[in-house]
Amino acid sequence: MLYYPRTPLASSLADALQGKDVFSDAPNGLFLAAPRRTGKSTFLQADLMPELQRRQVVVVYVDLWADQKRDPGSLIAEAVGQALLKQLGVVAKTAKLAGLDSISVGGIKIDTSKIGKVDGSTLTDALRALSEASKAPVALVIDEAQHALTSEAGETAMAALKSARDQLNRPGEVRLMLVMSGSDRDKLLRLVNTNAAPFYGSQIHRMPELGADFIAHIAQLIVRQRADLAPVNEATLSEAFTRFGQRPQFFMEALGQVLSPLATNTGRFEDAMLDKALQKQDADESQMESDFTALRPLEQAVLWRMLELGQRFRPYDADALQFYNEKTGEKVTVAKAQKALEGLRAHQPSLIWKSARSEYAVEDAAMLRWYTQRAAAGSWPPASPQLDWVDE
Ligand SMILES: Nc1ncnc2c1ncn2[C@@H]1O[C@H](COP(=O)(O)OP(=O)(O)OP(=O)(O)O)[C@@H](O)[C@H]1O
Ligand SMILES: [Mg+2]
Repeated sequence: MLYYPRTPLASSLADALQGKDVFSDAPNGLFLAAPRRTGKSTFLQADLMPELQRRQVVVVYVDLWADQKRDPGSLIAEAVGQALLKQLGVVAKTAKLAGLDSISVGGIKIDTSKIGKVDGSTLTDALRALSEASKAPVALVIDEAQHALTSEAGETAMAALKSARDQLNRPGEVRLMLVMSGSDRDKLLRLVNTNAAPFYGSQIHRMPELGADFIAHIAQLIVRQRADLAPVNEATLSEAFTRFGQRPQFFMEALGQVLSPLATNTGRFEDAMLDKALQKQDADESQMESDFTALRPLEQAVLWRMLELGQRFRPYDADALQFYNEKTGEKVTVAKAQKALEGLRAHQPSLIWKSARSEYAVEDAAMLRWYTQRAAAGSWPPASPQLDWVDE
């Protein structure tokens, strides 16, 4: 698998996190959003984390999507607990053997039997202890951070992180770095955009997608293997990459196909790539269309309303019920609307996201782009092939 390192980006973000960039707010938390499959997790794990480690920062990584059955609050606590155990394991064992119930790290008393078992209420102390014990700053990297808002324990963990940040960091000295990433800017915004939000005041940044330098690198590799293809038309290749939604996986897969000795394409491979990109775009859109039209009429109406109103969506207010009535031609009660919402949530993969405060949003931001485009082109809603749904 080809991997293109993004060292300059990692280095500048690490500078910002360490407070070396005077105009950056990153020491208060770095929030990064980019669409699905554009390389967020890879960048965090293969570029940013090693860069921070090179700078003697203790890095803790947790992916809140890794196990959707687990509460995001306990996933965060567990990751911090494990890191603490790694730092203090030996000390704690020795203390335990000597009959001590607790050890003191930088003035924080820790129960030797409980190291590694962190919960929301002790998360702040655990992070302080981790930084004290390792005598180094700590970076906590939370992938798919928007998921924290889907449970109360997750919300508590976020509040504890904010408090730990405020206790540990001072101007000129950053001891707790927080990096949170997600595929949906609107959901991440809920962590920062209201007075009650844990990271009120922070900005969500768009994580830069792979760009021209990545394409130049690929072009070089191609020429190295296939000198007969030089010079590579990088502009066309770039356009194809953009049409693939800047998603390296799909791009590389297509490249493998067009460069294969078994390929049936004639003419330049760059043009073949552009064709493949257009096909992929069509395939993605028809997948969304068939997912949408396969829903029950009321589920379609609820999803439609959510797509149309975004953050202003309220599932059961009078206007919403009126909207559902109009679209389905039936009298829709709150109970029926509730059932439709549950249906959308239980759908595999889940179509909607619900926060612990019962705020709703579409799960995949790509669906919102699809809706916006179709609505602007006057081709919304997609026609249902099935007209015989009975909504009981
Ligand atoms: N720098 C890179 N060079 C080459 N391929 C990459 C690079 N970064 C990511 N990829 C490839 O792109 C695909 C998606 O990467 P990754 O899982 O990091 O994206 P993501 O944005 O976290 O996706 P998701 O939204 O599903 O969490 C993977 O197959 C990965 O190997
Ligand atoms: Mg990811």
